[in-house]
Amino acid sequence: MTSASFHPASGPARRTVVAAAGAAGLAAALTACGGSDDDASSESATGGENAGAGGALAATADIPEGGGKVFADQKIVVTQPTAGEFKAFSAVCTHQGCAVKDVSDGVINCPCHNSKFSITDGSVQGGPAPKPLPAVQITVSGDSIRPA
Ligand code: FES
Repeated sequence: MTSASFHPASGPARRTVVAAAGAAGLAAALTACGGSDDDASSESATGGENAGAGGALAATADIPEGGGKVFADQKIVVTQPTAGEFKAFSAVCTHQGCAVKDVSDGVINCPCHNSKFSITDGSVQGGPAPKPLPAVQITVSGDSIRPA
């Protein structure tokens, strides 16, 4: 939907090399609302600790315990429901395909019509969404999180 926006509201974008690497297939699989929202040109290349990590999506330290972080370009939201337990879900809302925006109070929030999804299993916690957010497989190795 045209009202979707992909503003990484918080923190630096740590995805310098991911789009060209392992996440390509994932991104394709997750593209559910048409339009390629490739805003790479608007992102500053932070060159953070993931730059040489072979396609890592995030560092574990990026994901707050009891919360999560939305990776808009990859259309993935990564959560840490309990310490050391990481999960990932599609960031495409199952209602009308908006991108979920952020994570707060243990739920993943869609800004379009206020659907809320559990950070633990993606299940609908509120709003009009008809289905849970689909899980995305990730691998955690050391302190880096990457698409499985
Ligand atoms: S598209 Fe997410 S709540 Fe409507």
